[in-house]
Parts: sequence; structure tokens; C-alpha cells
Amino acid sequence: MSDFIQEVNKRRTFAIISHPDAGKTTITEKLLLFGNAIKMAGTVKGKKSGRMATSDWMAMEQDRGISITTSVMQFPYNGRMVNLLDTPGHEDFSEDTYRTLTAVDSCLMVIDGAKGVEDRTIKLMNVCRMRETPIFTFVNKMDREVRDQIEVMDEIESILKIDCAPITWPIGMAKSFKGVYNLYTDTIHVFQPGKGHTIPDDVRIQGLESDEAKELLGDYHEEFVDEIELVRGASHEFDMEEFMAGQQTPVFFGTALANFGVREMLYYFTEWAPGPLPRPTENREVEPSEEKFSGFIFKIQANMDPKHRDRIAFMRVCSGKYTRNMKMKHVRIGKDIKIADAVTFMAGDREQVEEAVSGDIIGLHNHGTIQIGDTFTQGEELKFTGVPHFAPELFKRVRLKDPLKMKQLQKGLQQLSEEGATQLFMPQRNNDLILGAVGVLQFDVVLQRLKDEYKVDAIYEHVNVNTARWVECSDNKMLEDFKRKNVENLAIDGGGHLTYLAPTRVNLSLAEERWPDVKFRNTREH
Ligand code: G4P
Repeated sequence: MSDFIQEVNKRRTFAIISHPDAGKTTITEKLLLFGNAIKMAGTVKGKKSGRMATSDWMAMEQDRGISITTSVMQFPYNGRMVNLLDTPGHEDFSEDTYRTLTAVDSCLMVIDGAKGVEDRTIKLMNVCRMRETPIFTFVNKMDREVRDQIEVMDEIESILKIDCAPITWPIGMAKSFKGVYNLYTDTIHVFQPGKGHTIPDDVRIQGLESDEAKELLGDYHEEFVDEIELVRGASHEFDMEEFMAGQQTPVFFGTALANFGVREMLYYFTEWAPGPLPRPTENREVEPSEEKFSGFIFKIQANMDPKHRDRIAFMRVCSGKYTRNMKMKHVRIGKDIKIADAVTFMAGDREQVEEAVSGDIIGLHNHGTIQIGDTFTQGEELKFTGVPHFAPELFKRVRLKDPLKMKQLQKGLQQLSEEGATQLFMPQRNNDLILGAVGVLQFDVVLQRLKDEYKVDAIYEHVNVNTARWVECSDNKMLEDFKRKNVENLAIDGGGHLTYLAPTRVNLSLAEERWPDVKFRNTREH
């Protein structure tokens, strides 16, 4: 096997999906600890006690060091090279979060054992389902009073529509949490409390029926043996094919805070999670083993350096190898460009890594020519598909403070929408400019950037829009009829696509009922 293929096969590229406060930051920190990327937990910057104000976020965005290095974290473990892509979790939830999920090969779902399935997780799982992404599950906070875990699994199965295959099972909880039991190897991993900041010793007991196990569990032993029997009966056996199809998830238990159960999960993750998967383009599938370079842009991070209007475009490498100073074809504009200084992401190692292969993420400096969804190749005319716009859920009307700046405003909004920072809608019945976003912070970022980069002072007003759908109809006559009768609700988006803006969900349902042959789509490809 060539060195190149060996490197590609090592890659495990994933993101964490969870509801805020489930423990994503904490588990990220522990993963970096195992990957030797940090020496002691508690050193990951950005947030410790939860909420960040908008202004902090802006300041953070401007701090190149923090924002770039926490966007993608690369570390070695168990003979693999793991790429963890950050998905902003709190108020900074945005379309970026969704699109990041199009750049990974698998996801780790973190569930709060006391809370079970929460709504952000439902939304993110829906996105994963679009691509049948394989999902690992970690049920967190076993050091607390948590719910009956069989109930939590039922909830995952019924709400998230994915079968659960527990690999480990928790022994007790809260003060009486003793560790986790591996259902497949008949091994107890014994909880080592008070080791949250370091890598705890790997203490194991072989055999649930062993004397050591009986001693550890004491009075609880018999009950636990029964519980395991129940769990085996009520759950699914791990099945690689179903996992790979996104229909079944292996489930692990532990506490990220106390750094327990994470190692067991990470081990199986590096064993089972898929390496780089083939990626669809408009013409053909691109295999990660192909030697010619290709990749697509899934995220543009703004305001890294406001003075230079410099932005970083994040590219998922889909085939071949990036090397410094290589030439790539920017397919949409049909030009070859030399990439001298792409950013690579070895966590904890400040040295610039000069190579990246299929499965890796690199950051290109963008001066305005790169858009979300752009494809780069070594000459071939390819267009990667599957990097969508998501129907926004929040809307605002933009008003200028100085009406003479209309041109700048339009230009700014057009560019920001091409970049994916927001979505722009221009209603057919008036000259309003309506912005749509998935996360509320996107609006603040847009105002700030209009001011800094386009010298436009704008304000927001309420607008009576609840949701948007992209409209399509293969029957032209019907489409014209539809357009005539729905002028009030129609708009053109930043990419020139016809969009239906619904004031209420009920209005949307009625329109869908009335026009069964018109497609109302909640995603649109770039
Ligand atoms: P997030 O990124 O998913 O939003 O969650 P984060 O890791 O920030 O964790 C949210 C809160 O839950 C934090 O507490 C964190 O310490 C706590 N936490 C994470 N994992 C565990 C766990 O296994 N057990 C327990 N008991 N708590 C856990 P916080 O009070 O918001 O912040 P902090 O001030 O304690 O850091």
C-alpha cells in the first residue's frame, strides 16, 4: 500500500452533535487529552462556564489564534489521525453548524443522561440523516443523578429514529457510580474518581462473575446481572452495516467531567468509525484514494483580521494531497490559483503542517473569491454536491440609517449571503431586503460586518415571516399560475431562486395543500 493510501486510511473526520450543556466542550477537552494535544484538561479556551455574550464572540472571532485552532482539531490516537470539527453549540449556532456536518464522515452524539434527547440534538440528527452519517453515542454525566438509562435509550430510538446498540453499560450512578461494563468483552472498567484533569489509570476487572466484580459491586451485583440481561434483551446487537448506514448507533456511557468512559468510547471510535468516504459530484463519485487533489468549501469564517477583510475558507479534502505552493483549479471561476499558505490544524502543535490528505480540513485565505460550496481540483471539471442552504427560521427586515447608502448595502448583503453568513430575500411585491438566519447571532455578525467592511449603518425591523421554502415546479404553466396567485408571499433569494415566505406554519401547510404539484423545499444546494 502506498504511503498516501496509508495516510488516508488513518483519517477519522467527525463532529460532535449535542444540545448546549450536554458536555461537548468537556468531552472535546478529554479527547484532546487522550490525543496528547493538551497536557491538562482545563486549557481549552473559549468558554468554561457556558454562555458567551455576542461581544465576546466577536472578539474571539477576531482573535485568529483561538478561532482557527478550535474550528478543527487534529490529533493522533490508536494509530489513527482524528480530525474533530467544531460545531458551535450555544448562541453562535448557525448555518455553519449544519454545513460542518456535510464535511465529516461520522458524528459523535453527546446526550445528557439526566435530560435525554433535547431539541438541538433532534435538529442536528435530521441533518445527519440527510447523508446517512454513522453516529456514535456517548451518554454523559453518570456521576450525577440521571434517568433510567433504558428509558433514555428508548427515547433515542423513538425520537431520533435510530436503533441503539449499547457497547458499555453504566454500573450505578451519582455517588454510587462504579464504572462501565463492556457487554462484548465482559470487562468492567473501574471508575477512578477525582482524575478529571488527567488521564486516569485503566483499571479493569475481567468477568462480571469474577470475585473481584462481586466485591466491587457488593449488594448491587445480583441486581446488576439482572439489569444486564434485561439490557441485552431490550437492545440491539452491534451491526457494522447498520451503523455505517446510519440506522444503528453504538452507545457508550460515562462522565466527561471526571474523564471516565471517554477512553473506551474513543478506542471503539477509532476502530469502527469510517475513514474518508467517497463524495458525490454532479458527474461522478470521487474516491478518497484518488491521487489527484479535490475538495470543497463548507464554511467561511469571517473577520479573522478586519483590517484585511481576510477570511478563512474551510475546505474538506476529498481526494489527493495538498502540499504547500500547489496549484489548484477554482472550478466555479475557471482559474488556476497557487495556494502558498493554507492553514492546517494539528492541535497543540503550532508548527505548520505542510501536507493534508483526503479526510483532512485545510483553511484557505479568502479575499472574496471563494464561496460556500466551491469545488477545487487539479484540473478536472467537478462540482461537489451536498452542501446545502437550510431554510432559515429567523427573519428580519434591514433598514438603512442613511438612505443614500443603498448600493453599498445591497452589495454587502449580496456578498455576505454568497459567503453563507446570512440569507437574503427580496420580496416581489416591494423593495424590502429581508435577512434569514438559522441562528440569532448571525444577525449581529451581519450588522457588524456591514459597518466594518461596507461602511453601512443598518438596523433591523420585525418582519412577519415565519419560515421559507424554495419553490420548484416542473410544469411551467402551473408555476406561472402559482407565481401570479402568490405574489404576496414570493421572493427571490440571494442566489436568484424563487422562495415562498410564509407568515405562519399554517399558511405554509395550506399553500402546500393547495399546490400539490409544486415542491416546497427546505434545503437548497449551493
Ligand atoms: P457544552 O459544550 O455541550 O455546552 O457543555 P459543557 O462541556 O460546557 O458542559 C456543560 C456543563 O456540564 C458544565 O458545567 C460542565 O462542567 C458540566 N459537565 C460536563 N460533563 C459533565 C459530567 O460528566 N458530569 C457532570 N456532573 N457535569 C458535567 P457548568 O457548571 O456550566 O460549567 P463549569 O463552570 O462547571 O465549567
